[in-house]
Amino acid sequence: MTKMKIAGTGSFLPELVVTNQMMTRIVDTSDEWITTRTGISERRLSSGEPTWFMAAEAARKALAEARLEPAQLDIIMVTTCTPDYYLPSAACIVQAELGAERAFCFDLNAACTGFVYALDMAARYLLDPQIHNILIVASENISKLVDYSDRSTCVLFGDGASAVVCSRGTDEDPSALLATKLGSEGRTGHVLVSRALKVRHPFLADGAVWPDRFGEHSDHTLTMEGQEVFKFAVRVLADSVLEAAAQAGVNLTELRYIIPHQANARIVEAAARRMKANPAQIISRIADFGNTSSASIPICLDELVRAGKLLRGEKVAICGFGAGLTYGAAIFIY
Ligand code: ACO
Repeated sequence: MTKMKIAGTGSFLPELVVTNQMMTRIVDTSDEWITTRTGISERRLSSGEPTWFMAAEAARKALAEARLEPAQLDIIMVTTCTPDYYLPSAACIVQAELGAERAFCFDLNAACTGFVYALDMAARYLLDPQIHNILIVASENISKLVDYSDRSTCVLFGDGASAVVCSRGTDEDPSALLATKLGSEGRTGHVLVSRALKVRHPFLADGAVWPDRFGEHSDHTLTMEGQEVFKFAVRVLADSVLEAAAQAGVNLTELRYIIPHQANARIVEAAARRMKANPAQIISRIADFGNTSSASIPICLDELVRAGKLLRGEKVAICGFGAGLTYGAAIFIY
């Protein structure tokens, strides 16, 4: 257990709403297919807002909520698999935007699991008496990777950002991170792929070819074996929450909410059955936002906090899964 308090939360969602009906104009699909197979009705897409911009907007709201000045931040972590630049990191751009001069800053890419990994890291950093406040921002323009001629993937994703400020809790605070269960299964990485730049320099021998690790990809567009991801997701979602709960000595019935990564309503329903959770505990906001990768869990968390539906002292489980393949669950007292 780490005395860690989520001191503030904030989100930024782009204004552009793309409905399922709008999707039928670009691919052979229907509102009925998308809602039945995924639970998604609409998603927000960036109107050009870069990943760093959405991150900084979400971060400002989280800092205001935490009543902290940017100069009080010791660390800024941005979780993203869709940064604007290889260099500098999105976190350093957010630092400059906020004027958080004291912080050290880095990006973390664990795909859709990024936020859970970052929360685990934040708790570990907070064991260092020199570290007091950590900003985690999950910001994703996943639309940059999507092939909008591929109906099996383009209907799934949305853009958005969300931030939390994690501070060291006091003895009077109930807040704490109770347990985490993180994992990766790199051997099945091929089921969800987006490639980066290939080696290219003036000294490359003519015709030098190194085969792609995951089959030939002509560019960065995302490819997915949907059913493989589906099976993986149901298994790790349920099992990692149960394992984290056992570690924390918490019965599932004690959890106010279980917030899963928002990838597909059917995945969440199947995982809830596998872990025998009460459907009323499970948060599902996929209908309005689609899959916003690492931003999806903190977007849900921020909504609950702002609506007054999550109170100090209540226990929450979060669980992510995604490319890598990666997964992770965390149980905390808000
Ligand atoms: N509209 C209409 N038909 C479609 C669409 C569409 N948008 N997409 C696929 N189909 C068709 C297929 O072509 C196929 O047709 P066929 O039978 O004639 O070949 C049929 O529907 C069934 O396709 P399946 O792939 O079997 O459909 P499934 O029920 O598995 O649903 C889906 C597909 C929604 C992608 C599902 O597999 C899924 O959600 N998988 C998990 C995805 C996921 O979670 N990804 C994100 C991970 S997070 C991250 O790290 C990015």
